[in-house]
Amino acid sequence: MAKVVRNARVTYNNVPTGNLELGKHLVYDDSATINLDNVPLNGGILIKAVALSVDPYMRLMMLSAEDTALNAKGMFLNAELSIFGYGIAAVLRSEVSNIRPGQYIHVDELEHAEYSVVTSMTGVRVVDRNTRLPWSVYAGAAGMTGQTAYFGWKEYAPVKKGSTLYVSTGGGAVGSMVIQLAKKDGLRVIASAGSREKVEFMKEVGADVAFNYKETPIREVLTKEGPIDIYWDNVGGDTLDAALENMSVGGTVIICGQIAGYDDDGVPAHRLMKMVYGDIHMVGFGFNNLEYKYLDEFYATIPPKLENGEFKFREEVYYSLEKVPEALFRILKGKNEGKCVVVLSDY
Ligand SMILES: NC(=O)c1ccc[n+]([C@@H]2O[C@H](COP(=O)([O-])OP(=O)(O)OC[C@H]3O[C@@H](n4cnc5c(N)ncnc54)[C@H](OP(=O)(O)O)[C@@H]3O)[C@@H](O)[C@H]2O)c1
Repeated sequence: MAKVVRNARVTYNNVPTGNLELGKHLVYDDSATINLDNVPLNGGILIKAVALSVDPYMRLMMLSAEDTALNAKGMFLNAELSIFGYGIAAVLRSEVSNIRPGQYIHVDELEHAEYSVVTSMTGVRVVDRNTRLPWSVYAGAAGMTGQTAYFGWKEYAPVKKGSTLYVSTGGGAVGSMVIQLAKKDGLRVIASAGSREKVEFMKEVGADVAFNYKETPIREVLTKEGPIDIYWDNVGGDTLDAALENMSVGGTVIICGQIAGYDDDGVPAHRLMKMVYGDIHMVGFGFNNLEYKYLDEFYATIPPKLENGEFKFREEVYYSLEKVPEALFRILKGKNEGKCVVVLSDY
């Protein structure tokens, strides 16, 4: 008898006009089913979601249908369609020659559904798990967020022993990896985050100066501990201004993210003229544009270091698809204490 099972999903049902609200904009729906034996693959693969990475950029994808029509990359505003993000899935059936059932794949646009049929192999790659780390880690520190830190650091950080880096959201998935890469390269690191636990973690991974920006003004710390030679920006707005005010001449700003403006419009940065007066270089990057250059090197080096403890990471793992909206909500409120991953399958 054909195997028909529940196929729960998370859908995007309402465009947020301000902050994300739980139960309104992203909705869990367990009404659909799927026939695992007979669902047509149309030349593609049938996969079971294993570990979904929940990431800040997902809020930026929550656009109106009109925005999306104007070529902005958005989620589909449609109660019938799952939202999507980075993640790991197990292959159940395949009509693709180089992908076999039983393999695990990393998918750039993985549906937030228990099962899905994927017909385009763009952004799909088989992951060779070369450690005993759980798949949740391959969706985080050994996945997209670890890669973001690694690729951006390798490509854009003008590494010089003894120079000073400041990184914001230093207690988070990307930021904590940046601290560790910088320390390995001999830099002095100043790092900020918004909780006592994150400050402890930033110290544990080697930050020379770790502080809670909600308790101590960023400018006060940077004036005392700067000037800074490299600023790794995960926040934007006034945090970027504070860093620009404290850059050394010829310094580099690496724009990785601007999370202060994702859930509302945020406060724009005002100090860009400092780039002129201070010969500051500023570069932004998307990690996926650097995959071709560093991905193999990343998989060969970083997961083993995460496994043996040379590099440390923190996770906030949820075990139900229903938790995706809450995980994103916590990220945008700064309440997550580690990389948010929703784990769906036993593995
Ligand atoms: N360029 C790329 O390809 C790429 C790829 C992945 C991620 N990113 C960016 O990297 C940054 C970090 O991502 P992540 O996955 O590592 O997230 P994360 O640090 O694990 O979580 C996000 C953190 O941002 C901080 N935050 C949230 N709202 C804020 C606000 N309004 N003002 C200041 N801080 C706020 C909070 O930490 P605090 O406790 O510090 O407040 C929150 O925990 C994000 O900007 C993200 O968009 C870029």
